[in-house]
Amino acid sequence: MLEILVLLLSALVLGMGGVMVVKGTDGMTAGKLLSFVVYLEMLRAPFGNLAMMSNGWARCSDAAQRIFEISDAIPEITEKENAVGFENIRGEIDINELEFEYEPARPIIQKLSLHVSAGDMLGIVGRTGAGKTTIANLIARLYDAKEGSVKIDGIDVKDLKIRELRRNIGLVSQDIYLFYGSITENIRYARPDASMDEVIAAAKAACAHDFIMKLPDAYETRVGAGGQSLSGGERQRISIARTIIQNPKILILDEATAAMDTETERNIQNSLGLLSKGRTTIAIAHRLSTLRDSDYLAVIDGGKIAEYGTFKELLDLKGEFYRQYTIQAEALKTIGIAEFAEDHPHDGDEEENDGNQG
Ligand SMILES: Nc1ncnc2c1ncn2[C@@H]1O[C@H](COP(=O)(O)OP(=O)(O)OP(=O)(O)O)[C@@H](O)[C@H]1O
Ligand SMILES: [Mg+2]
Repeated sequence: MLEILVLLLSALVLGMGGVMVVKGTDGMTAGKLLSFVVYLEMLRAPFGNLAMMSNGWARCSDAAQRIFEISDAIPEITEKENAVGFENIRGEIDINELEFEYEPARPIIQKLSLHVSAGDMLGIVGRTGAGKTTIANLIARLYDAKEGSVKIDGIDVKDLKIRELRRNIGLVSQDIYLFYGSITENIRYARPDASMDEVIAAAKAACAHDFIMKLPDAYETRVGAGGQSLSGGERQRISIARTIIQNPKILILDEATAAMDTETERNIQNSLGLLSKGRTTIAIAHRLSTLRDSDYLAVIDGGKIAEYGTFKELLDLKGEFYRQYTIQAEALKTIGIAEFAEDHPHDGDEEENDGNQG
């Protein structure tokens, strides 16, 4: 509007001034008119800036509002005043009569009790939407339980210092978030003081080193919103490297290798096997063969434990687990991989079988 006004003014000045010069009114000359027009032109820029200023101001206050919204947000998960820390964490998990719902009157977890001894590995299986990820979220206290409790080493997670809790739980989540920044920064995020050698060692253990080296700027490649896009399996491997560097006492792997090809998955299973030594591990997976090393398995259905036992016990039970297992075995047979060791999960040629069921 301001610009248009100034332009109209120029037109007016030229028109009227031209007439005045021709008529010679008030001693108007072409020179006088010209200088007038030039002055007017000089006015245009500051007027324009004025318009830009109100524009900029609107954007600025808009952005400030969003910043304050975030900085003023009150987290739902709060730390108690007298919160405690771990003296020497062992990593024992005790879930007692846990109940949880995201939305009122839609229970997701119902009276669920589970115990994982320090250093053991628990496998969790169950159909999609059964509540597996929700259990992981409740252990890491990303949400608060409605009823019941989650205890680590006998301390309710609600009584723990949040920092302390999160530092000791490594979660390779089902949907992985990469922050805007370099690959190194994304891996180091879990422990900012880690050296470059440690970052590379973690990436190698997570089978991520090779693909990172092929990226345009290797470890300095920028990823996250607007950066280089990575495939699902690549992001999972970065997330695993991040967890390796974090070195947590409790490891939660939520479909950690689901997006990878068979060979990469097998390599990673090896490193994850090494990683889970001396740590309490909870592994969630749909591919049942990846859970063979679990000390015990829980089949979750509708937020409850439907079956519980070792791999062998669950097969002998001939329930849901057995059903899923045979379906996966059938799938293997149809693509021509013969004996999937129906009765003896630990026998058979694992070289060919592992992971091909997907
Ligand atoms: N943030 C949320 N808000 C509301 N409902 C949710 C939320 N997250 C999950 N749910 C619901 O809770 C139920 C359990 O979800 P959960 O993610 O725990 O399933 P899951 O067992 O991990 O499934 P999958 O095998 O597909 O990962 C689902 O019915 C889902 O729709
Ligand atoms: Mg899930």
